Amino acid sequence: MSSSASAVIDEVKEAFPARRVVQFLPMVSSAQGDEPLRVIAAMGNNSANDAYTLRCKAEGLKIHPARYPRALSEFFIKMPTEEGDVVLDPFAGSNTTGAVAEELQRRWLAFDDVEEYLAASKFRFPGF
Ligand SMILES: C[S@@+](CC[C@H](N)C(=O)[O-])C[C@H]1O[C@@H](n2cnc3c(N)ncnc32)[C@H](O)[C@@H]1O
Repeated sequence: MSSSASAVIDEVKEAFPARRVVQFLPMVSSAQGDEPLRVIAAMGNNSANDAYTLRCKAEGLKIHPARYPRALSEFFIKMPTEEGDVVLDPFAGSNTTGAVAEELQRRWLAFDDVEEYLAASKFRFPGF
């Protein structure tokens, strides 16, 4: 984790009265062995017809080229968090993490250095 990411997490911990702040970094091996890697290998996310993809096409926004499977986000959110916890994804892309976190009654924060990805990520949420 870079020092800037660490500083952001410290700020979030201060700002949110949740029990935990969990940083979402699924590519890091877990202490429990290779389960995350096996989960990644077992899933794909190449849907061309989900609501996010269709809205990106309709509105001319770039479809994120490396979206994670929803089940992968679900696995890594459920494992260390409970309802009401904050899930922070510093490399959120299309914000699969935030969408799944919301479904699971977690709060979420999403960051990305490509503004267009974040702009399109709103299509994952009802009402946008
Ligand atoms: C593999 S993608 C994440 C995909 C996301 N999980 C999803 O389902 O859409 C990694 C993201 O990290 C972002 N990124 C790379 N370097 C970054 C940085 N230094 N700060 C913020 N975001 C960064 C990229 O723009 C990219 O969207």
